[in-house]
Amino acid sequence: MIEFDRISITLGGRPVLTGVSASVREGEVFCIIGKSGVGKSVMIKQLVGLLQPDSGSIRFEGDEVTAMDERRLAGLRRRCGMVFQQATLFDSMTCVDNVALPIRKHLGLPPHRARERALGYLARVGVEHLAYRDPSTLGPGLRKLVAIARTMTMEPRAILYDEPTTGLDPLAARKFDALVTGPLTEEGVTQVVVSHDVRSIFDIGGRVLMLHEGGVRFLGTVQELANSADPVVRGFITGDPGKEEQ
Ligand SMILES: Nc1ncnc2c1ncn2[C@@H]1O[C@H](COP(=O)(O)OP(=O)(O)O)[C@@H](O)[C@H]1O
Ligand SMILES: [Mg+2]
Repeated sequence: MIEFDRISITLGGRPVLTGVSASVREGEVFCIIGKSGVGKSVMIKQLVGLLQPDSGSIRFEGDEVTAMDERRLAGLRRRCGMVFQQATLFDSMTCVDNVALPIRKHLGLPPHRARERALGYLARVGVEHLAYRDPSTLGPGLRKLVAIARTMTMEPRAILYDEPTTGLDPLAARKFDALVTGPLTEEGVTQVVVSHDVRSIFDIGGRVLMLHEGGVRFLGTVQELANSADPVVRGFITGDPGKEEQ
């Protein structure tokens, strides 16, 4: 469903990714891990055309992303939603109106119909009780869930999350994990999770790609990740960077 084929990109004079290949299967949860600054965000930004690789190919459902103009990229971003680290909601309107906004914009529905639909999306992520709250009164975990509901209004085929559990308390983080592995997986949404939250990666339990020094250091299931003898992988899991990383 998503293919990265020998992607290389240099940013700020530094090669960030050098020939990275990976493919994400339809309906799976795929985690991208690695230490800070390794290129995880760069990887998913390229997938929605926010950054352009120097060489290599990226396909989303067979369509070459690197060749898309802005109009086609806009279409791609509806098929492939992205939830950024800062869940950007408008504090000047209620949660339900935040979620109704893209429904009104893209489907042209009148406000009350858009709101009705928005309530359905809030219910799907389990936060319909927050509909008439002001986002500024919510903690980061609940804001994140509302932002996911808003992303779902586009009925995306895939959702990308950048560091979704960073800044969340453990309870909120587990809620996020449960949403990914529960309703969203059941609906068949392909999900790519960029994370350095080891607990969350094991909770989610999909396939994992580890980036290290511009390349793919590990690609496999979380079980294989847990059993890996690679000191770089072990360092990441145990939170001990080891000599090599210092
Ligand atoms: N738009 C940009 N311009 C220049 N350098 C960038 C840009 N985006 C990211 N970088 C650099 O690319 C490297 C990887 O960044 P990033 O993908 O954000 O790391 P992380 O794995 O923590 O998400 C970092 O060294 C970062 O400074
Ligand atoms: Mg990042």
